[in-house]
Amino acid sequence: MQKIISLCKRRGFVFQSSEIYGGFKSCYDFGPLGGEMKNNVKRAWWKEMVQMQENIVGLDAAILMSPKVWQASGHLTAGFADELVECKKCHKRFRQDEIARLHKCPDCGGELIKARKFNLMMKTFVGPVEDEAATTYLRAETCQGIYVNFENVLDSMRMKIPFGIAQIGKAFRNEITPRNFIFRTREFEQMEMQWFCEPKQAKKYFNFWKEERIKWYKNLGIKKENLRAIEVPAEKRAHYAKQQIDIEYKFPFGWEEIEGIHNRGDFDLSNHSKASGKDLRYYNEETRERYFPYIIETSVGVDRSFLAFLCDAYQEIREGRTKTTKATKETEVLLKLDKKIAPIKVAVLPLVKNKPKLVKKAKEVYQLLKPYFVCQYDEVGSIGRRYRRVDEIGVPWAITVDFESLKQEDVTLRDRDTMKQERLKIKDLIKVLREKLNG
Ligand code: GAP
Repeated sequence: MQKIISLCKRRGFVFQSSEIYGGFKSCYDFGPLGGEMKNNVKRAWWKEMVQMQENIVGLDAAILMSPKVWQASGHLTAGFADELVECKKCHKRFRQDEIARLHKCPDCGGELIKARKFNLMMKTFVGPVEDEAATTYLRAETCQGIYVNFENVLDSMRMKIPFGIAQIGKAFRNEITPRNFIFRTREFEQMEMQWFCEPKQAKKYFNFWKEERIKWYKNLGIKKENLRAIEVPAEKRAHYAKQQIDIEYKFPFGWEEIEGIHNRGDFDLSNHSKASGKDLRYYNEETRERYFPYIIETSVGVDRSFLAFLCDAYQEIREGRTKTTKATKETEVLLKLDKKIAPIKVAVLPLVKNKPKLVKKAKEVYQLLKPYFVCQYDEVGSIGRRYRRVDEIGVPWAITVDFESLKQEDVTLRDRDTMKQERLKIKDLIKVLREKLNG
């Protein structure tokens, strides 16, 4: 794991928040490459869950909502709390489930004080006066914005059940033990889809969405042996869930949840109806029945899936892959990210940097491709070293401009995974790369 964390910092994927002040625990900033990659993860999810669907629409609700929302959703009560254990000696706090079998503090060996509930909501104050009336919370899950807009979306988009509403956005939890880099943090992003259906169809759709979501990871290159779906027993389920499956990924630190599939029943719509006084039942015009739809939820963390994509793609090759030239004896890092997730799609490299005509041509190629693909231009160091640099950040294709290019108006296109090179006319590059990217 340490090697991935160090790659993230060294190559601009993820930085510790407020690093120059010694860091701010459990918060991370996504660097130039991390930002691109995170956007790609979100784009891939949105394309799959909204654009390609006939009856799912998107939403972008506010992070701040009326505190009444959180009262009704059960997040202010014991339902959304972790069991907390405190060390009498060093006062460090742990989640009960994480140190369940320990009787002493894992850090200092001190005595542990009995578990108590610790609510995870992040409180904040809205307006200039810090009194109770202005107290609210940063949202702990994005889906509440969807439930309170159920009627607005239904009416404005003329939706008919079954249908879905999807959203991507920030969520906040005052986690007791944030850990494992960006795996568990206090500020994170979620991609959630809420599927509203007839209660008797809920089981069928639960299984359907579970399969769809597992397929999504596999289609984006996650190895199937690193994925599993675990049925969560009643006593461990979230407070709103009638049925729950956790999709887990085999991280270097063990199997951990990356996505939850929940049958939330009518918990949310009926509670918001009761608390707001607004009847959120769905009216079926054909049967003239009014009922609370059941909700099947797919909920994945952007940061967690980002980490899973990174871990799955990371490879080290001792003594390198190059067999055609003298082996460097260095360990090479290859980030075999799916082309859709890779932050930079194309690298443009002049063979050498001290020939102005070659550099000029390479810059022309770079400018030509820039509007269509996220590109990088690099002229520093030997061509072999530059290939290794782009392999390390997962660039799927590298273009080399050489002396032939000046005469023939062509370049070599190198594939990251096979290292095979093909000669292509510059005028065909956009078309060929587009086909490769979308193929
Ligand atoms: N709306 C349902 C819900 O929020 P959850 O299982 O609590 O369900 C869903 O969270 C996903 O959100 C998790 O599978 C994980 O990917 C992500 N997530 C939750 N808490 C997180 C945290 N503290 N840090 C990073 N990601 C988190």
